[in-house]
Amino acid sequence: MSARVTTTGAPRTADQRRINRTCVSATHGGRRVLRTPAVGTTEARWYEAQGFTIVQHLVVLRRDLTETASLLHRSPTPDVEISTHSVARRRARTGDRDRCASLADLDATGFGTDWRLTIDALLHACRSTPIHCVFIAQPSGIDNEMPIGYAIAGVAYETAYLQRLVVAPEHRGRRIATALVVASMAWARSKFARHLLVNTEPHNTAALALYRSLDFTTDADGLVVLERDEQPAT
Ligand SMILES: CC(C)(COP(=O)(O)OP(=O)(O)OC[C@H]1O[C@@H](n2cnc3c(N)ncnc32)[C@H](O)[C@@H]1OP(=O)(O)O)[C@@H](O)C(=O)NCCC(=O)NCCS
Repeated sequence: MSARVTTTGAPRTADQRRINRTCVSATHGGRRVLRTPAVGTTEARWYEAQGFTIVQHLVVLRRDLTETASLLHRSPTPDVEISTHSVARRRARTGDRDRCASLADLDATGFGTDWRLTIDALLHACRSTPIHCVFIAQPSGIDNEMPIGYAIAGVAYETAYLQRLVVAPEHRGRRIATALVVASMAWARSKFARHLLVNTEPHNTAALALYRSLDFTTDADGLVVLERDEQPAT
């Protein structure tokens, strides 16, 4: 179970406070680790100086949102509804954690044990931008049906971020991800974002093909994720 990092008893240096604010606790290869968000080269150097090691390289893709007319008129995926949600900024509301629990289960089907988002990491992802929206795909007309896909999008100033995107394995190939990304683009545009950024692993051929089918282009500079073995609090 991941959680935001707390360091009761640890020295409260400015560096440690920054790590507490930015990193999440996770399990990787059976080890408890602190994991950074996806960062650029300069920030990566700072984390390396704090004892972190690069564990993942990511490709950054970008979609201009000033021209989306051709995509926004795409026909919706039959038999699938997309609803929109948000989580409270500070204390989770009743229902936020339950919804995040079902999304965390779905997330694990897409990313596996080491890279899945836990409930706390999902809440953290939603709160990492000033505004956000959670898009949940479910079969139409069936109440309380489990989600079959979800996306989290956030906007900070003129930039939108697609923070997460997963479709349940048995529902892939039905253009559900396409519908979720197009919905995210429409929402981001309505919040005055000018472009949408997403990152993915260089070998994630399905995701790369999906984004390219929606006219995303690849940025020259990528991002990295770093980890450090978690020190037991003393
Ligand atoms: C990537 C993912 C979200 C795609 O979901 P999906 O609902 O199957 O995607 P769509 O049906 O909307 O596919 C749209 C396009 O993407 C491409 N695509 C999707 N899956 C593909 C695959 N396995 N191989 C090659 N191209 C693929 C195709 O171009 C497809 O267009 P088409 O329908 O004309 O063939 C899904 O595979 C997934 O959840 N993967 C695990 C989590 C993940 O990688 N998330 C993205 C990380 S940023």
